[in-house]
Amino acid sequence: MSERPGLAVVRTVAELRRAVGEWRLDGGKVALVPTMGALHPGHLALVAHARTLARHSLASLFVNPTQFGPSEDFTRYPRDEAADAAKLAAAGCDLLFAPEVAEMYPAGFAAAVDPGPLARRLEGSFRPGHFVGVATVVTKLLLQALPDFACFGEKDYQQLLVIRRVAADLDIPVRIEGVPTVRESDGLALSSRNRYLSGAERRIAPELHRTLETVARQARAGDAQAAPQGRAGLLQAGFAKVDYLEICDAATLEPLTDLDRPGRVLAAAWLGKTRLIDNIPLP
Ligand code: PAJ
Repeated sequence: MSERPGLAVVRTVAELRRAVGEWRLDGGKVALVPTMGALHPGHLALVAHARTLARHSLASLFVNPTQFGPSEDFTRYPRDEAADAAKLAAAGCDLLFAPEVAEMYPAGFAAAVDPGPLARRLEGSFRPGHFVGVATVVTKLLLQALPDFACFGEKDYQQLLVIRRVAADLDIPVRIEGVPTVRESDGLALSSRNRYLSGAERRIAPELHRTLETVARQARAGDAQAAPQGRAGLLQAGFAKVDYLEICDAATLEPLTDLDRPGRVLAAAWLGKTRLIDNIPLP
């Protein structure tokens, strides 16, 4: 276990369990923040939330190969562990679990967690297998660390629901906490992938959040054309393609038919070669 000021780093499940086991001796609770690194203030808001919940906080840093499709950005996903460790230390995080791929997926690894139909809608229909990869790695992380709490961003709203489903269905003894999306001042949701945007694309990007707000307002007022108009508006603003923009039941992500139920507007759209996702609640 190597020491940085305030932040210990472990790379094996055995070391992780030893460190968390020592924490358990003082009776304090433990909160986990799973990440793929390239940390920004959105991730650090999860750490801040974790610290309000539990005496001991840990983050994981693992760029999980099984949740990337064959044509996605796994190999070029930004990696800078030293910078991430410094940010976690400054945020008051106690421990970083940063395993190698072989530690998480040793030779012969074959099991997978299928979260069911929720994982095949929206993101799941455009990224087949993505949520099986996410659910499998998050299940492993939860069983490795056995935290009292695990924190996830509403930025990836469907992921949050998928993980809630899996934790409940598999009786994993953890409370899954959702944390509101952290945004730039112009509304763009912080994302590790924003760094791929050119200057011109960056200027168009906040239109995604603005469009979601317009669609949410129109849908609330009963306008049945809100979603198709939003899709057209994104293309007009300069987005190359809209994978989906849908008004959904906030619990099931099925199309929202009853406006008395909590709703959520979710979208994924391409700016050049960069795919942005965002979502907001219906007011
Ligand atoms: P990653 O994209 O690194 O995100 C880690 C966590 O940070 C997720 O819970 C995500 O929703 C949250 N997050 C990202 N941007 C945010 C923002 N702007 N505001 C608030 N929270 C934000 O999501 C993953 O990694 C992976 O799928 C993972 C869960 C770690 C499994 O591999």
